[in-house]
Amino acid sequence: MRIAVGSDHRGQSIRLKIVELLRRLGQEVLDVGTDSAEPVDYPDFAALVARKVSSGEVERGILICGTGLGMCIAANKFPGVRAAPCHDDLTAEMSRRHNDLNVLCLSADMLGERLIDRMIEIWLNTPFEGGRHARRVEKITGFEREASSSPPN
Ligand code: RB5
Repeated sequence: MRIAVGSDHRGQSIRLKIVELLRRLGQEVLDVGTDSAEPVDYPDFAALVARKVSSGEVERGILICGTGLGMCIAANKFPGVRAAPCHDDLTAEMSRRHNDLNVLCLSADMLGERLIDRMIEIWLNTPFEGGRHARRVEKITGFEREASSSPPN
């Protein structure tokens, strides 16, 4: 699977470990940075990953910042992106089964490395259940179409 991975300065060191893990697992990784501990703006890196998911250049994305929240808010502005912060095995699993999550957002500050590794493996290996969940996800996609076709008041 092709996976784009990005972080801000707070997520930089854990991102490097995630990239290694993904490569060990045989995934094709596009690492978009950031490449130093110098403070950067998380929306810039969310956009680099989310655009690739939105265009279909990659199937999935992983974003890391201090809380995982800012990355999630920014990534969800891109059509076709379904991003959410996950924080344990269950959220990692259900985000795939029910929500077809294509961008996993992680907190560098609140999650341990072993938990992150486990969550990533679960998230990569869990299929979307489809069926009634596909209908619900399609409704969310409909909201995107509605927003892009109706000019703001
Ligand atoms: C950066 O200080 C911090 O705001 C960022 O890493 C993230 O937690 C934002 O949601």
